[in-house]
Amino acid sequence: MAVPLDTVDFAFDEMPGDDLHEVLRAYREQGPVAPTRFLGIPAFVITGHAALLDAFRDVERFPPHRMYEVSFEGAIGKSFISMEDLAEHRVYRKLATPAFRSRAVQSYERSGLAALAHEMIDALGDREEIDLVAEFTARFPYLVITRLLGLPREREEEFHRWALALLRFREEPAEAESASRELTEFLAPVVAARRRQPCNDVISELVAATVEGRRLEDEEIYSHVRLLFPTGGETTHGSLGNLLFALLSREGAWSDLKRNPSLIEAAVDEVLRWETPIAVLPRLSSSQPVEFHGTEIPPDSWVLFAIAAANRDPEVFEDPDRFDIHRKAPEMLTFGRGVKSCPGMHLVRRNMAVALETLFERMPNVELLDVDASLPRRTVLRSPDALRVRRTGGPSDC
Ligand code: HEM
Repeated sequence: MAVPLDTVDFAFDEMPGDDLHEVLRAYREQGPVAPTRFLGIPAFVITGHAALLDAFRDVERFPPHRMYEVSFEGAIGKSFISMEDLAEHRVYRKLATPAFRSRAVQSYERSGLAALAHEMIDALGDREEIDLVAEFTARFPYLVITRLLGLPREREEEFHRWALALLRFREEPAEAESASRELTEFLAPVVAARRRQPCNDVISELVAATVEGRRLEDEEIYSHVRLLFPTGGETTHGSLGNLLFALLSREGAWSDLKRNPSLIEAAVDEVLRWETPIAVLPRLSSSQPVEFHGTEIPPDSWVLFAIAAANRDPEVFEDPDRFDIHRKAPEMLTFGRGVKSCPGMHLVRRNMAVALETLFERMPNVELLDVDASLPRRTVLRSPDALRVRRTGGPSDC
């Protein structure tokens, strides 16, 4: 199918399944950087692996904070993701480390993750037909984050809605501000309680953390947490959906991997390369005109970092469109590179592996009911909207 590139807009087009990869292949044929559209205006897309690596590291031409300043700060507040001063960014990013890799996180990963996944599957009862997006992938990451933080469960249903609203600040600012208010009202009594009496959770660790000799103020803790919900929640939701799609839509892939659990981590990594939930990462270029890999880029342009294209660049990956769990792909750019490389990458890999182990144990035989409706779609946050499956209930084959 010839792709009419002149009508593509990466903000609005869904590009389900292979459509996205076909579009990106066509752009790559034009060179590592090509003109496109985003949000209805002219933009640029970087598809080549080498060029994208350069772009991630180039904080002069592509200042990494600018997009977050415009799209996040109004609802999330001041957090390290939108800090311009890189020295300040480093200090605050380090400070938020408890949220990604602390003792509380590691102990939760060892015991809490699997228990939560079992709890969610228990709640499905013995229903044969299930939408794994609505009932699992869209909820699991939020429950993980809230349990890591030590937040009460009574408003569980709202976490996903808050995260989505926070991410849509540019399009729907009033809704994003109201989600931010509701989330903060929910957080305030917990932070106050942890100041009085710390527990073994991430909020207690943030309360105890010091930056340049001082403790974090309440508002700084709130903005860290407001940041974690959308950055950690939606990406993990997408990556779990893409993982289940990859395994359930291929003949035999689910049962082959179930029989070889030692390959689960490799399968997780290959899905992260093959169909990443941040397929296209928007950046705002410098407020000066810049030249990049032979292309003139006007000031303040949207430049789309096409991670999904770089992850399938044939210069770097052999037979890049093939989903191959035996492949080793340390060059994938799924988690970015340089100053902003993803601090949550370890957590999301554990989430995905544990979710899969639990699903194999509890739903050994499942059949995907509608492959077309399950295709990953959209570009900035890419995942299936639904994964309707039937549990076939036959005996487990191992
Ligand atoms: C498969 C899942 C994930 C993917 C694909 C992903 C991808 C990325 C990418 C590409 C970046 C770099 C952004 C840039 O250069 O502007 C990033 C940064 C970030 N990620 Fe992730 N991420 C994932 C999961 C998570 C999780 C689970 C968390 C939190 C628990 C998280 C929190 C963050 C934060 C806070 C940043 C900003 C870092 C900074 O400003 O220094 N991510 N992520």
